[in-house]
Amino acid sequence: WPALAPDIEAILRLKRERNAVILAHNYQAPEIFHTVADIVGDSLALAREAVNVNADVIVLAGVHFMAETAKLLNPSKTVLIPDMGAGCSLADSITAEDVRALRRKYPGVPVVTYVNTSAAVKAESDLCCTSGNAVQVVRSLNAPRVLMIPDEFLAQNVQAEVPEVEILTWAGHCEVHERFTPADIRDVRESYPGVTVIAHPECPPDVVAESDFSGSTAMMMDFVVQKRPSQVVLVTECSMADNIAAQNPDIEFIKPCNMCPHMKRMSLRNIRRSLETLTHEVTVDPALADRARAAVERMLAVRT
Ligand code: 13P
Ligand code: SF4
Repeated sequence: WPALAPDIEAILRLKRERNAVILAHNYQAPEIFHTVADIVGDSLALAREAVNVNADVIVLAGVHFMAETAKLLNPSKTVLIPDMGAGCSLADSITAEDVRALRRKYPGVPVVTYVNTSAAVKAESDLCCTSGNAVQVVRSLNAPRVLMIPDEFLAQNVQAEVPEVEILTWAGHCEVHERFTPADIRDVRESYPGVTVIAHPECPPDVVAESDFSGSTAMMMDFVVQKRPSQVVLVTECSMADNIAAQNPDIEFIKPCNMCPHMKRMSLRNIRRSLETLTHEVTVDPALADRARAAVERMLAVRT
């Protein structure tokens, strides 16, 4: 990326000067993922790695809830997000008061909250989960009924794997994954016979049912790198395929994919600005930080 070299060089220098690390989600564009990121991964890996960061400043190239989670796990560090507008339709779908109302409606039922939520919602939860550990988190509770919120499709996909537990959910959806349909998958299979189809569990259950494998973004990447299908479609955000393709030229990545407008608010330019000006700092209300942190830490303690 010769045109981007000045920004890349500036970011590498600023990281040294600020003693900063960049955590980037797998949906970041290749020019961020493959150049300036120190740690890349799915939501679970980024939360796990945030615990071990040895730096004064963390720049989260991802969306706001990821930066909030990093801040919860690193209260004394400066956590920055290059664009405060990088939200998430799932995080926007539920409030802390909604969770309190669910608890009143279903007394005694444990609440598992997807990490794609605000710290205020996490603070009302028993523990969190990601798409990489949701099944294990639900099983770890040994409860006959579990509230799994706010992603309805993730809850339904987990329900298929854990039939012994009754999973109650919420009507939140990922605006990227809800757009995929079973007809998309059938069309791809018709055009590319033998293609391997991998779907993220935020997709509707009828899409996951048409797929060969489903898992978090890191699990999707591992599957491709280990099984090495000759043709594959990743039913998820577009940058995933771009990021793996760069290092696996022998694998053909077939679209369709959808773009996450929130993830795509990150750019080399605003990462550079973030490090230059130490903005935008992510903070968590101290009145709820301890409870939200406990929900994340209980998740991290679950064996996967
Ligand atoms: P994972 O990377 O945890 O699979 O999550 C996908 C996602 O949509 C993050 O916002
Ligand atoms: Fe949220 Fe979906 Fe974007 Fe992930 S891909 S940040 S779940 S809107």
